[in-house]
Amino acid sequence: MPSEATEAGMVRTYLDWLAALPWAEPEPRAIDITAARQVLDEDHYGLTKIKQRIIEFLAVRKLAPQGKAPILCFAGPPGVGKTSLGQSIARAMGRPFAHVSLGGVHDEAEIRGHRRTYIGAMPGNIIQAIRKARARDCVMMLDEIDKMGAGVQGDPSAAMLEVLDPEQNGAFRDNYLGVPFDLSRVVFITTANMLENIPGPLRDRMEIIELASYTENEKFEIARRYLVRRELEANGLLETQAGVADEALRHIIRDYTREAGVRSLQREIGRVLRHVAVRIADGSATQMQIATADLAAILGQPRFENDVAMRTALPGVATGLAWTPVGGDILFIEATSYPGKGGLILTGQLGDVMRESVQAALSLVKHRAAELGIDPKKLSEVDIHVHVPAGATPKDGPSAGVAMFTALVSLLTNRSVNSDTAMTGEISLRGLVLPVGGIKEKIIAAASAGITRVMLPARNRRDYEDIPAEVREKLQFVWLERVDEAIATALEPEAAPAASAG
Ligand SMILES: Nc1ncnc2c1ncn2[C@@H]1O[C@H](COP(=O)(O)OP(=O)(O)OP(=O)(O)O)[C@@H](O)[C@H]1O
Ligand SMILES: [Mg+2]
Repeated sequence: MPSEATEAGMVRTYLDWLAALPWAEPEPRAIDITAARQVLDEDHYGLTKIKQRIIEFLAVRKLAPQGKAPILCFAGPPGVGKTSLGQSIARAMGRPFAHVSLGGVHDEAEIRGHRRTYIGAMPGNIIQAIRKARARDCVMMLDEIDKMGAGVQGDPSAAMLEVLDPEQNGAFRDNYLGVPFDLSRVVFITTANMLENIPGPLRDRMEIIELASYTENEKFEIARRYLVRRELEANGLLETQAGVADEALRHIIRDYTREAGVRSLQREIGRVLRHVAVRIADGSATQMQIATADLAAILGQPRFENDVAMRTALPGVATGLAWTPVGGDILFIEATSYPGKGGLILTGQLGDVMRESVQAALSLVKHRAAELGIDPKKLSEVDIHVHVPAGATPKDGPSAGVAMFTALVSLLTNRSVNSDTAMTGEISLRGLVLPVGGIKEKIIAAASAGITRVMLPARNRRDYEDIPAEVREKLQFVWLERVDEAIATALEPEAAPAASAG
């Protein structure tokens, strides 16, 4: 064929691809468990249970290299080390690391490739990653598998099913290659923020390992032992030239970041150290230790402050606890009333379940008005408005029931809610408090927001063991069977001055 022919270029590229792929049977690689343990500890602080699970996984791979390995899925909020754990596993196994980002992929061809008849056809990103890693037994991280969506071009999760299925992936068919490629020796690891978004059949094939938010102390230790060193290196500084005082690190964690992981923390430490780098580079200093007093000048005014007391000062506001894919959070439920006819207005982008839960809370208040010391006549003479601020973020779920009920009773009895107390729990129409999910994340968030007392459903007692000891010590736990107990615990006894009502 003449080399000017359009076909020739296409054939050449195709042959290039075929020749570049690692077809040969990979050399067996021994796994040294002791060394692997060391690698994991070198790269990550803490995460004891997760490292233990990874070691078990490696031990099984060592004893049965040809056996079917489970596919690990690291699930958790952003910045807790999911992607970097995958890199560590590759290092511990002594294999190349391949990274495939699945976020935003919604075309099957991105996984499986385009047929060669298309102009500019390319293999899918699995085969591309194999070529980059130059190994058929690499560790392949399929990052953000929960953010893959079906589009008009077909469903990529169907192709992913084939990739991850040990029965089928021995002969994976990429549309571009047109010949089967053996993926059975690849060690697949996936990550996700939100397990609910992974299609069932796919989730079924994976072994889920959940990573939780870090507590303040864990962040401090990670910063002290890892992040400062990494940022020194990244900014061309030596440990003898610059450092950050322990107290200053705690301030950065508390006042300049509010996150589940440590990504912004690392960024802020980087900013502080770049400030030092300028001083050293221009010769105005040879050595600098950053103290707490220097932070405002470098990072600006503290970005986060404890505003719970201020926001719950008036009757009608209760502090709830929420679970989100980026970690736990506190949220305020605000209720106010004005003359009307017993109506209810809801704002703050509440989902259907949350709207119903406000209605249930209000019915419960009406039903028990007499016991609660509320004049039933008053209820029919006012309209009630319930708002959950941070209006731009949609909120849903039944777990704010107790907080809704408490906010309403607080409003109608003019007793404010204790500002040290936060609560979570679903309510039934009969006034029972039902268990909810995400307890561990919610409690870690409560502690870092300065809450000292939490009210939880009694049936969530089984989750108590999961809460880090450091956080448990900071908090007083109140276990609720019925909503009345929430009122007795959370509301300040005496009525606030009438002027502040509403
Ligand atoms: N326990 C830890 N010890 C040391 N460093 C850590 C630890 N946890 C996280 N890091 C560091 O924090 C940074 C962010 O982690 P990583 O990128 O792995 O987060 P991720 O969980 O993949 O987040 P996302 O869901 O946003 O992708 C990395 O530099 C990582 O090394
Ligand atoms: Mg990641």
